[in-house]
Amino acid sequence: MPADPLDPLVEIIPADRDATSEQGANQALPSREDRCWLLSPKHGQRLEAEIARKLAPAFAEILQQDADTAERRVTEAVAAFFPIYAQRPVRNNKGGGLINDSLCLYVAARLLAPRFIVESGSYQGHSAWLLRQACPHAEIISFDIRLSQLLHREADVTYCEGDWMERELPSFDPGTALAWFDDHINQARRLREAQARGFRQALFDDNFPVFNLYATGGVPLPTLAMVMDDSLTDGEEIRWMRHGKIFTYRYEKKHVFEARAVIKRYLPLPDLTSVTRYSPPSGMTYVELGR
Ligand SMILES: C[S@@+](CC[C@H](N)C(=O)[O-])C[C@H]1O[C@@H](n2cnc3c(N)ncnc32)[C@H](O)[C@@H]1O
Repeated sequence: MPADPLDPLVEIIPADRDATSEQGANQALPSREDRCWLLSPKHGQRLEAEIARKLAPAFAEILQQDADTAERRVTEAVAAFFPIYAQRPVRNNKGGGLINDSLCLYVAARLLAPRFIVESGSYQGHSAWLLRQACPHAEIISFDIRLSQLLHREADVTYCEGDWMERELPSFDPGTALAWFDDHINQARRLREAQARGFRQALFDDNFPVFNLYATGGVPLPTLAMVMDDSLTDGEEIRWMRHGKIFTYRYEKKHVFEARAVIKRYLPLPDLTSVTRYSPPSGMTYVELGR
C-alpha cells in the first residue's frame, strides 16, 4: 500500500526486535523500558530539562541550596542518568525499581554523595548497581532476606542475607552516611532503627499515603506518609482491595509517635509520571533524622 503523504509516521523495526526475522524470533521480549524510548537527541534533552525542572525544587530543599544551583546540579545528574540506565545489567526489574524510581534514586544518591550506604532490599541487585554508579567511592552494604533472587552482583558491594538489624555495621561518619529502605517493612520501625544506629539521612521507597494503599503489594505499614498524617485517628481501621483481595490495617498512634519524633525534615520527591509517561514511581521520600 503506498504511504499516505498526510501521515508521515514511519515504523522501522530493527532486526533483533522483528519477530519475523530469525534474529528477532530468538530474542526474549525486552522490558517496556527498552521498547519505549526517545531516540532524537534534541528532544531527549528537552525531556531531561523538564525532568530537572520538576525535581529541582525538592532538591533545593534537600540540599539547602539556592534554586539555580539545585537546578544546574539536578540537570547534570539527569543527563548522566540516561546513558547509565541504558547499560543496566538487570534488564527487567519488575517487582523492583523501574525507570522513574531509578532516576530519583540515582539523582538523590549522586547529589547527597554519601560515603557509606546501607541498602535494605537488594532484590535482583539493580538498585545496589545504580547506587554504585551514582557514588563510585562509597562503601555499600546491601541486605536482603532472600539473596537467591540476585541477578547482578557488583564486585565491591557487600551483600548480606538477613535483616539489617541482625548485623553489626562497620563504624561510619553519620554526616556522610545514607540508609536506603526498599524492603516493604514497617517504615515507622525502619525510621527508629536508622536513627538509633546513627544515621542522619534516609531514603524510603513505597511511601504511599493512606488513600493509595491499594497501589503496591506488601505496603510498609505504617508508611511515612501515615506517620505524618494528622487525619488518622487512634484505633481507626483502614480497608482496601488489591488484585481482588481485601486488606485491613488498624492504625495505632503509639506505633507512630516515636517515629514522628525522630523526623527533622520530611521531603517526598515529586512523581515524574506526568513528565516521562513511564510507569508510576513508588513515592520515594527523603528524611533527615534528628539526633
Ligand atoms: C521491592 S524489592 C527491592 C527492589 C530493589 N531495591 C530494586 O529496586 O532493585 C523488596 C525486597 O525486600 C526484600 N526484603 C523483605 N524483607 C526484608 C528484610 N527484613 N530485610 C531486607 N530485605 C527484605 C525482599 O526479599 C525483596 O527482595
